[in-house]
Amino acid sequence: MEQELNTLQTLAKDELNAVTDSAQLEDFRIRFLGRKGEFSSIMKGLGKVPKEDKPRLGQLANNIKKELESLFDKKKISLNADSSASGNGSSIDLTLPGRKPETGKLHPVTQIMNEVCAIFESLGFSVAEGPDVEHDHYNFEALNIPAHHPARDMHDTFYVSDSILLRTHTSPMQARIMETQQPPLRVIAPGKVYRCDSDITHTPMFHQVEGFLVDKNVSFADLKGVLTIFTQKMFDKKLELRFRPSFFPFTEPSAEVDIACVMCNGKGCRVCKQTGWLEILGSGMIDPEVFKKVGYNPEVYSGFAFGLGIERIAMLKYGIDDIRLYYENDLRFLSQF
Ligand code: FA5
Repeated sequence: MEQELNTLQTLAKDELNAVTDSAQLEDFRIRFLGRKGEFSSIMKGLGKVPKEDKPRLGQLANNIKKELESLFDKKKISLNADSSASGNGSSIDLTLPGRKPETGKLHPVTQIMNEVCAIFESLGFSVAEGPDVEHDHYNFEALNIPAHHPARDMHDTFYVSDSILLRTHTSPMQARIMETQQPPLRVIAPGKVYRCDSDITHTPMFHQVEGFLVDKNVSFADLKGVLTIFTQKMFDKKLELRFRPSFFPFTEPSAEVDIACVMCNGKGCRVCKQTGWLEILGSGMIDPEVFKKVGYNPEVYSGFAFGLGIERIAMLKYGIDDIRLYYENDLRFLSQF
């Protein structure tokens, strides 16, 4: 019996070494370790061995069985690990649909900004960019807004120092471009601007697109024509425009432009403050004083300028009734655009 047990031990180890998958391992278990397996049938002979040999042979049989069971468990673990790593294990279902990687998108305000620039570029305007941190000179002085002028109160300015500030509008780009280039000019200047201001139609940082055209014989009719074409292209339909007399120190005459509120179709709602109109831009004919400061002869040249609020356009285009939603960084909101 001792020899039978030793032979079985060697054979079982060789067979287990040759096992390469879980089906073969199960066959091994039934053949060697099962209730009707080879080990059990040898053990049945234990009753017939002489009494004095029984303890020794019983001990030997126990040790061999424990060793084979332990080798069996190790083999099972290593087979499971192999199949998981190769993707064939039950823990991975290769038939499941893949997970789509999240892709980034342009912010809705950037999308509108790009659209606005493309429309003006199609009308022959070129694009120029300037600094967000600006000199008092360009933001105010060069635009006919001297120190202590009451118009400075219209801009709730963030000052960096006495003479440096965060630009409150994109109009400084008029002076920056005109002092380095000669007419004819047809320029747009998109960018961020800053004001200490916040409610459902105002944010402390927002975007404007400045536009200006300088040449001989430019009239208010040219301004109206350009802005009418722009709104038609932007909103894909004929929208009513309202030119409302206004005041800017750097344009004369000046007008603010409203469009019929697309949220309520002009009936009146909380966005248009029950007026039926929403202001989208300021505009006017460039003031002769601004021309003189950059060395242009106002007797020869005339021009118009306008400054568009991009977030307002984005609100109207997408039907958003609170401008602050654009800057809350809520992906559920932003991913809709
Ligand atoms: C100006 O900023 C002038 N520089 C515009 C201009 C340019 C006039 C050239 C004449 C010639 P105003 O302060 O009105 O004007 O702002 C222009 C537009 O920016 C407004 O019509 C509005 O659409 C938008 N806007 C103003 N303040 C805010 C704000 N806090 N948040 C979001 N949009 C704003």
